[in-house]
Amino acid sequence: MNKDLQLREEINKRLEQVRTKKMKDPYRLAFHLTPPVGLMNDPNGLVYFKDKYHVFFQWNPFGTKHTFKAWGHFSSEDFIQWEEHPPALVPSEWYEKDGCYSGSALTHQGKLYLFYTGNVRTNNGGRESYQCLAVSEDGIHFEKQGPVIELPKGYTSDFRDPKVWREKDRWYMVVGAQTESLEGTVVLYSSLDLLKWKLEGPLAGPRISMSYKFGYMWECPDFFSLDGKDVLIYSPQGLESQQYQFQNLYQSGYIIGSWNRQTKRFEHGKFQELDYGFDFYAPQTFTDNKKRRILIAWMGMGDEQEQNHPTVQNDWLHALTIPRELRVKGGRIYQRPINELKTLRKSHFEASFNLVHEQKEIDIYTQLQEIMIEINKFDGKELSLHLQGNWKLTYFKDQGVVTFERMRFDRSEKETRKCLVETVKHIHILQDHSSVEIFLNNGEKVFTSRFYSESTCTHCLLSVDGSAALHWQNWDLDSFCF
Ligand code: FRU
Repeated sequence: MNKDLQLREEINKRLEQVRTKKMKDPYRLAFHLTPPVGLMNDPNGLVYFKDKYHVFFQWNPFGTKHTFKAWGHFSSEDFIQWEEHPPALVPSEWYEKDGCYSGSALTHQGKLYLFYTGNVRTNNGGRESYQCLAVSEDGIHFEKQGPVIELPKGYTSDFRDPKVWREKDRWYMVVGAQTESLEGTVVLYSSLDLLKWKLEGPLAGPRISMSYKFGYMWECPDFFSLDGKDVLIYSPQGLESQQYQFQNLYQSGYIIGSWNRQTKRFEHGKFQELDYGFDFYAPQTFTDNKKRRILIAWMGMGDEQEQNHPTVQNDWLHALTIPRELRVKGGRIYQRPINELKTLRKSHFEASFNLVHEQKEIDIYTQLQEIMIEINKFDGKELSLHLQGNWKLTYFKDQGVVTFERMRFDRSEKETRKCLVETVKHIHILQDHSSVEIFLNNGEKVFTSRFYSESTCTHCLLSVDGSAALHWQNWDLDSFCF
């Protein structure tokens, strides 16, 4: 039997095993994409093709470690009703034998093209990487075309995650890379036919547009124009953690500026993080049929805590974030949950509160919650929202700091992430069974995190140290349909 079929049979067996088990799983998510079994990491190949949104993802169906990597596949007409498909790519060929790594999708002449990295481990412990192409007529079955780009001179084999787009008469590709002097960078290619690619050189990075080293590797680059600006998103590794920045092991963020299409020079501002929570990495964007720029990220982090997520005991790990619509305003990216998610809203509660040095308890009847708080007036020191047993968000007005607290997975101790803010006027929260995404000031700053609590929380506690006039709304939310 050929390798491709053999791997697909093994994956099917694995799926059958878990589907007959029917485990009680309080942490399974209701409105986030999760792997049917095993480990999910980066979103891949986000695309609108033949009236459907396609979301591919890095998938190890055989365990919760980063060993085997295929491309899992979901599709949807509306981001709410999802269909699960057979894996789009399994690592069956010599040039991808140790993983069909991350990449992107595009549509051209009625076909769907996937560009991805073939990862190969060599006998002496090294690595080879190939940028590969696979093409599909129906969006479900893919014909592999093999490598279209080999490793260029000057870079190590940490060279991956091609993102391809079209401008005028040409295709462009950015690839995440490491230079031979171990600096993170992003490399640009161009092509007229999607098969032959010309190396244009680094697009950004220490050698080209920064005078300083910024991490040892940049993963998952994405380059696009939005609201009159050019934006490069990437995930740098090797940044030193600071009090209000780079608090996770790896980061994801962006630089904004203007790309000269003739000289290929990208003039840009400083790196800004996309998210300040514990679990956010390797985001990818695409434009849909409504011309929205939509971002989905891996809601996870490959750090030393990874195998301590309690879902590992139920044979699955990680999820993708909800889709977020991006806008650029005042030199920064704003992220907002896409409008379609409003169709998950069920019962609604709304009230205005004037609180003076007091705590207000608000009942919630399900873990699946959307909460929206408008802060019309706040004179005081601290304002916090505590979903008891789950997590706590606190705004320290004098310091201009917001903190997010959750319990560690490995021992009963709190851990915190923080970000700087000028003010907080608006808080928008989407909580699933074991994840929360918090958007401050209409998406100016975001915290994305998993949390695991033993008990289901039935109320939240709003505390004000000072006086505040707030408008509160919350909705119970529904689950996705599969
Ligand atoms: C980012 C990443 C990518 C790589 C993929 C492998 O999380 O390391 O650079 O292609 O995951 O799963």
